[in-house]
Amino acid sequence: MELSDIESDLTSVLYTEEQIHAAIAEVARAVEVDYAGREPLLVGVLKGAVMVMADFARELKLNAQMDWMAVSSYGSGTKSSGVVRILKDLDTDLHGRDVIIVEDIIDSGLTLSWLLENLKSRGAASVEIFALLRKPEAAKVHVDVKYVGFEIPNEFVVGYGLDFAEKYRNLRGVGVLAPHVYS
Ligand code: XMP
Ligand code: MG
Repeated sequence: MELSDIESDLTSVLYTEEQIHAAIAEVARAVEVDYAGREPLLVGVLKGAVMVMADFARELKLNAQMDWMAVSSYGSGTKSSGVVRILKDLDTDLHGRDVIIVEDIIDSGLTLSWLLENLKSRGAASVEIFALLRKPEAAKVHVDVKYVGFEIPNEFVVGYGLDFAEKYRNLRGVGVLAPHVYS
């Protein structure tokens, strides 16, 4: 789905597919240098990170594995609850692995700070984070994020994996959701 297909549901367009792909390629080039000679395990956080993972993993000129976790911190609303539950765990043993968590967005940071500690405690050699989007103004806890695509204003965004009530994930770009959609 194109941004123009749901124009009236958005107050603004933040990033087009081309801009997102360029940002992902830039991160991939940095990761290729940082992980040269190693085989990182990319851990995608379902469902939001599906698009980032698909593009990032294919862009990467390194052998890399993919695994997935599903955690819940949000429900179907637009505010973080801070309560994290594992809905689906990894299949991979993390002992000695170089893990890169792949996320769609860091909002309060509560989900990722919890996930970071959780994965570190499983014996990984290293754990870093790649988040496509970050809302610096929404941060409630500090999270060390090594790779970031874009810093965005503190507004609810959809598209490129990000949903509102499971809608808009299949949008090719990212836009700010119009208040009339959720109020
Ligand atoms: P926290 O607040 O724990 O939230 O950093 C992380 C998770 O919340 C979801 N999230 C969003 N989803 N538009 C969305 O569609 C947003 O603007 C937004 N902000 C946070 C997302 O699942 C993320 O992993
Ligand atoms: Mg997510």
